[in-house]
Amino acid sequence: MKILGVSGSPIKNSNTDRAVKTVLEATGAETEFIKLSEFQIEPCRACLGCVDTNQCVIGDDRNMLAEKAKQADGLVVGGYTPYSSIDGRTKAFLERLYPLRHKHGFMSGKSGVAVVTCAIPEDC
Ligand SMILES: Cc1cc2nc3c(=O)[nH]c(=O)nc-3n(C[C@H](O)[C@H](O)[C@H](O)COP(=O)(O)O)c2cc1C
Repeated sequence: MKILGVSGSPIKNSNTDRAVKTVLEATGAETEFIKLSEFQIEPCRACLGCVDTNQCVIGDDRNMLAEKAKQADGLVVGGYTPYSSIDGRTKAFLERLYPLRHKHGFMSGKSGVAVVTCAIPEDC
């Protein structure tokens, strides 16, 4: 059993990193942690080039990262919330998992956890 954790925060040892790592440790399984800011992963181009092949046509680090997600038994995705929305790296990563769907549904049946950090003022 192997669980993959990803963090969209670019900050070293950030809140999101530590929250994702806490979840990974709690699984008791073999884990791998990935910081998306250390890789090149652009947003989906919506070209639908993956529909027949399950392969993305963009030649960045997505294919390597998606292969890790495909091989893992579970996925922990951690994002933070700049300007009240999920951060761009996490969004791009999730968009780019689209080729794992279509004909085969490679993530079907796997466990998934979403981790989101934020800073809501106490007087809200
Ligand atoms: C540029 C920027 C904008 C932010 N905007 C929001 C926001 O709109 N709402 C919110 O709840 N937190 C906001 N935050 C706070 C972060 O979501 C929060 O500190 C988060 O834990 C940061 O994650 P990190 O430590 O993993 O980088 C913002 C942080 C930054 C750097």
